[in-house]
Amino acid sequence: MEVLLPQSKIDFYQENGFVEIENALTEEEMNELSEFLEEAMSQESNHSVATSVKGESYYKVLNQKVNLWRDHGGMSRYTFHPKLAKMAMKLSGASGIRLFHDHGLWKMPQDSKPTAWHQDFPYWPMTAPGALSVWIPMHDVDEHNGCMMFVPGSHKVGTLRGINLADPQDLYDQIKGTELEKTKPVKVPLKRGSCTFHHGLTFHFAHANQSDEPRRVLAIIYMPDGTIYSGKSHLVTDHVGLEGGKPFGGGLFPLVAKQT
Ligand code: SIN
Ligand code: NI
Repeated sequence: MEVLLPQSKIDFYQENGFVEIENALTEEEMNELSEFLEEAMSQESNHSVATSVKGESYYKVLNQKVNLWRDHGGMSRYTFHPKLAKMAMKLSGASGIRLFHDHGLWKMPQDSKPTAWHQDFPYWPMTAPGALSVWIPMHDVDEHNGCMMFVPGSHKVGTLRGINLADPQDLYDQIKGTELEKTKPVKVPLKRGSCTFHHGLTFHFAHANQSDEPRRVLAIIYMPDGTIYSGKSHLVTDHVGLEGGKPFGGGLFPLVAKQT
């Protein structure tokens, strides 16, 4: 763990709102995860939910399926992977970390659209920021097949209005005249086995996929233990018995790492 996540990586994340972790998963793990993800994305859903429909505009941005772990035992091994969960906990600075949800994020080839600049936190039903995502591609990614870009330090700007990714507004309209507007985004190509973590307020973007293959990514969202459910409507929290104003908990939002 110390090798994967030295203090310098934690400091980098806290300063910049994102960090790359090289060789986070082994070749063996990547082989297994790629197979599980393929199955989970193509099999019939029972508890997981596909949030885009082929032919519609959001599908051109992302072919997305949420809560894969609930239908695929193999996926749950990775969504709950202690190595990833522990890194999320250490980066966030929390004493314990809970799962919010996982999602397959495939950017399909042909007529592919970029994922517009946005923050994630405005979509989430939480009263305060702190949650973060790990983004794990199943293969090498660069600007040709949909790698990510981040704006260093943008997580310090606070919560802006959410962007409709299917018909995006320009996030930069909300920060006109600020220092942040002038900050150069960082492109993060990744090798298979490597991943990035990003804070829920960090500005991020992914290029369109100009390759002939889907860009296959598993993302997992974690939240510090004690995160309060705001009651705002969200796919994974609607009708599951949570009470607004109370901390997340229970079997759908389990603690996946805690400080020992
Ligand atoms: C993407 O995978 O294209 C976007 C991921 C994200 O918005 O976190
Ligand atoms: Ni995002």
